[in-house]
Amino acid sequence: MLADSVLALLSDGEFHSGQDLAKLQGVSRTAIWKQIEALTEHGVDIERVRGKGYRIEGGLELLDTDAIRCALTEAATQTLSDLGVLRVVDSTNAELKRGELGCSGATVCLAEAQTAGRGRRGRPWQSPFASNIYCSTAWRFAGGATAFEGLSLAVGVAVCRALETFGVEGLSLKWPNDVLRNGRKLSGILVEMNGDITGPCTAIVGIGINVAMPKSASAEIDQPWADLRAGDGTYPSRNSVVAQLLNELLPLLQHYESVGFRAWRSDWQALDAYADTPVMIHGAGEPLSGLAQGVDEQGALCLQTSGGMHRVHGGEVSLRPAS
Ligand code: BTN
Repeated sequence: MLADSVLALLSDGEFHSGQDLAKLQGVSRTAIWKQIEALTEHGVDIERVRGKGYRIEGGLELLDTDAIRCALTEAATQTLSDLGVLRVVDSTNAELKRGELGCSGATVCLAEAQTAGRGRRGRPWQSPFASNIYCSTAWRFAGGATAFEGLSLAVGVAVCRALETFGVEGLSLKWPNDVLRNGRKLSGILVEMNGDITGPCTAIVGIGINVAMPKSASAEIDQPWADLRAGDGTYPSRNSVVAQLLNELLPLLQHYESVGFRAWRSDWQALDAYADTPVMIHGAGEPLSGLAQGVDEQGALCLQTSGGMHRVHGGEVSLRPAS
């Protein structure tokens, strides 16, 4: 159990001595020390200075369902069935997969931290506490898995649209579903499925957005990454970013089964980071090389190879620039 009240006190960014924290909570200093340890274990960067106490440099904005709901459009509000924030969970996607989901509307699960955040191709997703956005949304598709073909690509477009409202520049998309900022990974999307692929089933759309990645967690990332910090170190409020994200995502989900990826294709292509670029596709047997030529109406990558045009479907493959 996370030490919520110590966290709330430290979220102001000021120094608080162990003695003051203990007094305010009516517990011993050892109990406070244990709570600080627990928070540190969950990735909260707490500075300790002898004679001054503890502080979270720059303070913390915790996720707040009321603040998020207040900033939702009418369309998003009508589509939303449930919105929950967890302090720590293994994975928000896993949490929704375990849950009993209603049949109508979107169920949204957010977390301050994930202990087993998962990315595509079995990779971990760095999920330190209260630094980034970890958001999963469950949505029921009546027509089975084919109804959500290309969905993860369309979600990439929605993420870009949401971030553009904060003036984030240099956004592009890398097939199948990475969002890049100045060519470095800013956000990842993992769509998983619950239920019968031929009948009604639930898509779980997991989105991770790096907002202000702490140094300790960034050391674990094995590829060029970006977050939402501007040159002066400032970044948008996570509650506002989540609200904008849902304002784009929920209407997308509501209409996707009737319009499909076709309606999103040209917007995806306009953001394509690798259009007309020599690339290699890994993970589907022998590596495949060719010239990336955008995507088709199902969201498959069109790859011009020496043997003709190949269509590469998403799943467990990855694209890299040909060196
Ligand atoms: C990728 O690019 O590899 C996909 C990353 C997806 C990360 C998000 S964070 C919220 C949700 N919960 C998870 O465990 N994964 C997704």
